[in-house]
Amino acid sequence: MPVTVHDLAAWKARGERFIMLTAYDALTARVLDEAGVPLLLVGDSMGNNVLGYPSTLPVTMEEALVLTAAVARGASNPMIVGDLPFGSYQASPEEAMRNAARLVKVGANAIKLEGGRRSAEAVRRISDAGVPVMGHLGLTPQSVNAFGGFRVQGRGQQGDELLADALALQEAGCFAVVLEAIPAELGQRVTQALDVPTIGIGAGPHCDGQVLVITDLLGLTPDPTPRFVKRYADLRSTIAEAAQRFAKDVSEGHYPAPEHEYH
Ligand code: KIV
Repeated sequence: MPVTVHDLAAWKARGERFIMLTAYDALTARVLDEAGVPLLLVGDSMGNNVLGYPSTLPVTMEEALVLTAAVARGASNPMIVGDLPFGSYQASPEEAMRNAARLVKVGANAIKLEGGRRSAEAVRRISDAGVPVMGHLGLTPQSVNAFGGFRVQGRGQQGDELLADALALQEAGCFAVVLEAIPAELGQRVTQALDVPTIGIGAGPHCDGQVLVITDLLGLTPDPTPRFVKRYADLRSTIAEAAQRFAKDVSEGHYPAPEHEYH
């Protein structure tokens, strides 16, 4: 049974922690589906992690659509969350709605967008149309230029602002809110204040769920990665070693061997 917004509400009510991972292609999505991952975010982190951009800012709707469709084709049980890229929802709630609908048409079950009170109208418009919306607060990468770099958000007075943003997103219809790179105490405060689940990334252990970028989790991203990342594999070494062993086998005449011949 595909994961729905009701599952997330039930997990929060029962205090069951859950995870979300980013995914950008069908093959990985299928592996994560088979591993039981309940939520796949086709994040605009595709910019840095797949498309070779220096940040998430250049990602276009067309790129987001292609990768969201690929992930949706690869996975059938997880909730697929499509991420609205920078510039696709800020101009007006109407434009936000149009672009959210495009993501849904290629297979997203929900969409995510960044920002608090400034995004509340867009959230309301999209969720009123029957599309579940996930909010995103804290160190929202699409605002990196305004933040002056990747810095922890929500310290001191900013914490009250962030809490007000989270409550506004919930009020506007968000079914969950991602909290990125904020102090753990603030993560706890927001999680306790909201009826909907929080999903943390660098937001401490008290959030209802945790999200990681798949390339960080797998150890594909080169150093330095943010402090909050935990690598659960070392695919950089695995891939490099496999490529070197292939080259060695070819140069030494061990590959292809008779068993690799087509009959
Ligand atoms: O795009 C992304 O990967 C994200 C996560 C960091 C939450 O927004």
